[in-house]
Amino acid sequence: MVEKPTPSDMTAELGRFKLIPVVVIPDAEQALPLAEALLEGGLACAEITFRTEAAEEAIRKIEDNVPEMLLGAGTVITREQAERALGAGARFIVSPGFSPEVADYCRVNGTAYYPGVCTPSEVQMAMQRGLTALKFFPAEAAGGIKLLKAIAAPFPQVRFIPTGGISADNLPDYLALPQVLACGGSWMVKKQLIEAGRFEEITHRVTEAMRLVQ
Ligand code: 3PG
Repeated sequence: MVEKPTPSDMTAELGRFKLIPVVVIPDAEQALPLAEALLEGGLACAEITFRTEAAEEAIRKIEDNVPEMLLGAGTVITREQAERALGAGARFIVSPGFSPEVADYCRVNGTAYYPGVCTPSEVQMAMQRGLTALKFFPAEAAGGIKLLKAIAAPFPQVRFIPTGGISADNLPDYLALPQVLACGGSWMVKKQLIEAGRFEEITHRVTEAMRLVQ
């Protein structure tokens, strides 16, 4: 049996990808074409958000058919959603904010958890649960790079995943910061593109983004 990667292995892996497409999937039937479109663009990583009923099934389909994808579950707000996400095969868990119950559940299960933070208090709460890689959300609306630098200053051991308002325009500036592990965003995988079956456009956007990452 392949051993489950530790949370710190997972964090190192995300740091190699540098890019996490944040997916809102309307229908699980779109899961496999989406995964293929991402792979075609050179990105074997995604976060499927629990914002639609289809999320759990979409994760299961991709895990079963495209195991080379590093797949996480996003918008995980409750322990019950975390259980469903891991049951479907998600390998990491992301929340918009910090959830002690999701943090505890992930710790017991040895699963990487990236809660959203945008204040020093939230960073400290997450650190008290042993977490040192955190989503910085909503990055642009909260204050962007200026706020991120200010929040990161007292916590040199923490790395951040800015998400929210990231695009090809500001991605290089975020990735240039040493405090930034990776960036998340939906611009490459917009729900409207998935709904319209425009998977070539998704591949195009991913290819462009990967060019900026390298
Ligand atoms: C998220 O859930 O992480 C965000 O909705 C992604 O933000 P974006 O749509 O601005 O990229």
